Amino acid sequence: MTATRGLEGIVATTSSISSIIDDTLTYVGYNIDDLAEKASFEEIIYLLWHLELPNSEQLQELKQQLADNMELPQEIIDSFNTYPINKVHPMAALRTAVSALGLYDEEADVMDKEANFRKAVRLQAKMPTIVAAFSRVRKGLTPIAPRKDLSFAENFLYMLKGKEPEPIEVEAFNKALVLHADHELNASTFTARVCVATLSDMYSGVTAAIGALKGPLHGGANEQVMKMLTEIGSPENAEKYVLDKLSKKEKIMGFGHRVYRKGDPRAKHLQEMSKKLTEITGEPEWYEISAKVHEVFTSQKPLPPNVDFYSASVYHSLGIDHDLFTPIFAVSRVSGWIAHILEQYENNRLIRPRAEYTGPGLRKYVPVDERN
Ligand code: CMC
Repeated sequence: MTATRGLEGIVATTSSISSIIDDTLTYVGYNIDDLAEKASFEEIIYLLWHLELPNSEQLQELKQQLADNMELPQEIIDSFNTYPINKVHPMAALRTAVSALGLYDEEADVMDKEANFRKAVRLQAKMPTIVAAFSRVRKGLTPIAPRKDLSFAENFLYMLKGKEPEPIEVEAFNKALVLHADHELNASTFTARVCVATLSDMYSGVTAAIGALKGPLHGGANEQVMKMLTEIGSPENAEKYVLDKLSKKEKIMGFGHRVYRKGDPRAKHLQEMSKKLTEITGEPEWYEISAKVHEVFTSQKPLPPNVDFYSASVYHSLGIDHDLFTPIFAVSRVSGWIAHILEQYENNRLIRPRAEYTGPGLRKYVPVDERN
């Protein structure tokens, strides 16, 4: 038995949800480039869960179900003040709140297909409300209730900031949600599948996935990118910063990918949006610093930017606090996690690989008082 580090190249399951073939990403056969330009996030949720795009009636029904389920149990909002609220990272708060949400769902452990779809809607609908409400409570502000007349993207920005977003903000945020929704067997999705393959419940699967997404090698990279852009401060400093980091063998966040070789197809959409938004906000330097880091890094290493690199300046331009970037990733990716959880339940087998043992050979047990 020989181990493969990081399971690189291992095909661990079949799936009909999304695919990466020759650096092209598709959701159920639709090219991400088309979806990013044309689809609403609600259409993507439907596509991932039902493996077909909705007709207008089906889309309307899903939108209604999401709108009807966005409100949080008051206990969840009250619980934020029991956290060390000014110290806790919102991603940890989200992980805890989603786990707690399961306590208030009477169907949490009901495993039939219809109950799983109802839980899917509840989880998807409540995730943005958790992130927005937590963000307001920690600032001493009152959470804003979701509005039934707004789209998913509009509602999140409205609940976060307390005013209706501009059309360009909605376009940018919807696009980011579409681009982050699913990504084959990435680390957090695999985590969710491993968890529910024990026949554990959907809340456990999503809580586990949030934990995996939180790390800086996965979803946590977008916040680290913004930290780097802030440290660099102006385009003139970018070259020295990147070269210094590389000479110390440190990684530059937002570059590289386990699967893509020529480039992450999602990055160009966010790059375009970053350029546009930073011009509108009158802070073009965030795009300029990003573009300079991009240029210098890729002149040194053949590793193109991934989805996290330009999403940082996009979210910053939308006026979103930097430590909410990764929770926002989760608000979108939960649609993919749920799709994979449903697929796992449909054709389940326990996921239990082996380890190549590298410890000592067989040894004799020595009682504690006889040990040196
Ligand atoms: N900066 C500098 N060097 C890098 C980077 C980077 N961002 N990424 C990879 N390398 C180098 C790495 O040092 C190694 O070099 P060497 O062979 O000389 O030791 C080589 O490339 C292979 O790297 P690896 O870490 O073994 O590659 P991996 O396939 O295990 O990791 C990755 C993929 C995404 C974790 C990695 O590229 C990375 O750490 N990138 C920065 C974090 C990041 O942006 N993560 C977001 C990933 S995409 C969206 C998501 O999933 O959330």
